[in-house]
Amino acid sequence: MEIFAVANQKGGCGKTTTASNLAAALAINGKKTLLIDLDPQAHASMGLGVEKEIGIYDCLSKISKNKCSLKDIIVHIAPGFDLAPSNIMLSTIDQELADEIGRESRLCDVLKDLKNDYDYCLIDCPPNLGLLTVNAIRSAHQMIIPVEASRFAVDGVKRLVEIVDLVRDRLGHSVAYRVLVNNFDSRLRHSFNVLNQIKKVFGEKVFNTIVHINVKIKESQSEAKTIFAFDKYSRGAKDYYSLSREIITGEGALMEKITAAMKKIVKKKARELSAVEFSFAGTADESVYVVGEFNNWAMDDASRLVKGNGVWKRRVDLKPGQYKYRFVVDGKWTQDTQNPVAEKNPFGELDSVLTVADQA
Ligand SMILES: Nc1ncnc2c1ncn2[C@@H]1O[C@H](COP(=O)(O)OP(=O)(O)O)[C@@H](O)[C@H]1O
Ligand SMILES: [Mg+2]
Repeated sequence: MEIFAVANQKGGCGKTTTASNLAAALAINGKKTLLIDLDPQAHASMGLGVEKEIGIYDCLSKISKNKCSLKDIIVHIAPGFDLAPSNIMLSTIDQELADEIGRESRLCDVLKDLKNDYDYCLIDCPPNLGLLTVNAIRSAHQMIIPVEASRFAVDGVKRLVEIVDLVRDRLGHSVAYRVLVNNFDSRLRHSFNVLNQIKKVFGEKVFNTIVHINVKIKESQSEAKTIFAFDKYSRGAKDYYSLSREIITGEGALMEKITAAMKKIVKKKARELSAVEFSFAGTADESVYVVGEFNNWAMDDASRLVKGNGVWKRRVDLKPGQYKYRFVVDGKWTQDTQNPVAEKNPFGELDSVLTVADQA
């Protein structure tokens, strides 16, 4: 069983949303997944319509009158997706275990019971760096740290990583971590700037998958459903599915290796690329960018169009495939009006669609 702690001491950055929907996505991929709600506020449990008197507190506590094992509290949510729910009693565990030896390893001990029953276990942490979060870090093989694309994201993660280092030094348990950008608003230039900053600081630790802001996610929670049960065609569902694939295939790590190997054969590969010229003949005072699926919607020097004879142009080498894209004209996102092929995006606007044919 591979254990992931979804942690960040900042509230509202998407821990619960990520833990619940990623668990659902892993299960859809045929992976038996257990979600542990480790937050006394029990948002993950409530978000899945589960309110129980007996919960994870009764597994961790030694004095609870309902003391039981992890197996006893499990609620079945969907095929391959189980939940160990929480309730407000969990808020007393800090105090209760204060003088216990091995209090940082309580959850780790409890989890041993089920280690052969699931492929994945996700732990939804509370929004602080207290004993419960330390227990989650101590139990986990990896941490997923959701962050919003905001200026303060980087500092928050650095503090959390200090705790990870502390757990390593004091308890001799090393845990890898990855950063997940959530609530990403691709309409704002600011989001891309912050994304670049986050990537600069955390490099390959940032998941390739980005979870976009999507109102369906909020709606699904108010109906006590996962995004897949609520609207499997939504952007939110696509993003969490993509994250689950990245985790299952280890695509991120794999991509690093492939990139290194690719550099050696890049000249050969270049022959398979087609040069596509994007042009914008409308009025722009300052800048025009072409952003799309082929460049991660990034505004940078490589996506900036250059003006000549009244027309803005940019040549981009693309592999065969289909790509959605838009122009950003003086900071405003617009459709390519010269391209009749377009598709509605989750914001109700039109993305232009380009198909690059396979030359072979
Ligand atoms: N990608 C997203 N798009 C839209 N709303 C989101 C997204 N991620 C989280 N939210 C909303 O933000 C709020 C906080 O998210 P939550 O997962 O509860 O954060 P945390 O567990 O870190 O406190 C919730 O109302 C949730 O619906
Ligand atoms: Mg939460």
